[in-house]
Amino acid sequence: MSLENKTVLVTGATDGLGKLVAIKLAQNGARVLLHGRDQAKGDRVLAEIQAATGAANLEFYRADLAVLAEVRDLAKAVTAEHDRLDVLINNAGVLGGETRQMTGDGQELHFQVNYLAPFLLTELLLPTIQASAPARVVNVSSGGQAPFDFDDVMLETGYSAMRGYCQSKLGQIMNTIDLADRLKGSGVTVTSLHPGTYMNTNMVIGAGVKPITPVEEGVEATYRLAVSPDVEGQSGVFFNQQTLSKANAQAYDEAARRQLRELSLRLSGLTSD
Ligand SMILES: NC(=O)c1ccc[n+]([C@@H]2O[C@H](COP(=O)([O-])OP(=O)(O)OC[C@H]3O[C@@H](n4cnc5c(N)ncnc54)[C@H](OP(=O)(O)O)[C@@H]3O)[C@@H](O)[C@H]2O)c1
Repeated sequence: MSLENKTVLVTGATDGLGKLVAIKLAQNGARVLLHGRDQAKGDRVLAEIQAATGAANLEFYRADLAVLAEVRDLAKAVTAEHDRLDVLINNAGVLGGETRQMTGDGQELHFQVNYLAPFLLTELLLPTIQASAPARVVNVSSGGQAPFDFDDVMLETGYSAMRGYCQSKLGQIMNTIDLADRLKGSGVTVTSLHPGTYMNTNMVIGAGVKPITPVEEGVEATYRLAVSPDVEGQSGVFFNQQTLSKANAQAYDEAARRQLRELSLRLSGLTSD
């Protein structure tokens, strides 16, 4: 399928799943905006993908998602330089250590990098995405999900890296449902997925876990949601790889989603109250 004239932003495109999805998009002719947090690594990966695919229309954008000001700058740079964005793939993610880490913005690390930063980025890019309809937002979530305790979203008690990670991943799915509702009839669809169980990437290897799923399966599943006609019109839904699936029950709790959305708007500075 030719993706000529399609512009796709892939966050966390400097390694693992995101890098391989970016390569596949480039091979199929898309203009790929690669995002990462490290300029030198980004330059290297961009050169590598250019050499491997012959693609000339690749760009790298640097932003640390643990810094909300950098997320705002990323959105500003992308919208200043592109008047269309056909697909946004929120893929960047972190699985941190067993010591709870807070960002300079005052959020628990997983909450911010995996959930709040992509929430903010998507909101800021939404006018450009809507202007490019039919367009898609794909949230790379996980089968690992844990419900929010709204009295302790920053996990001051009972923190574990897995809990922080799983809570943030459910947040992405909750936002997928909300955003899809808001965008009904706009031609913009929003989906989320579990790309694969313990794929052989840095995240899994770094955690000392034995990989199970080849990362290529995650690439196929993510690429399909991003561009395949198979899933045209599907929105607000969660896929386990390529199979429609149910998320944790909290995702379908409207009051919980509203609470998370209000909190997210406030913590990301999109509302002041
Ligand atoms: N691997 C699995 O089995 C699995 C399973 C379910 C879901 N997922 C999800 O799949 C997505 C991709 O993960 P992966 O397995 O490919 O992991 P990975 O190889 O560790 O890649 C993660 C990407 O996110 C970037 N990133 C991390 N922290 C960042 C930050 N603060 N600011 C900006 N970018 C940041 C990394 O940048 P650097 O290159 O600088 O490190 C890298 O490009 C994640 O959302 C993950 O939760 C993975």
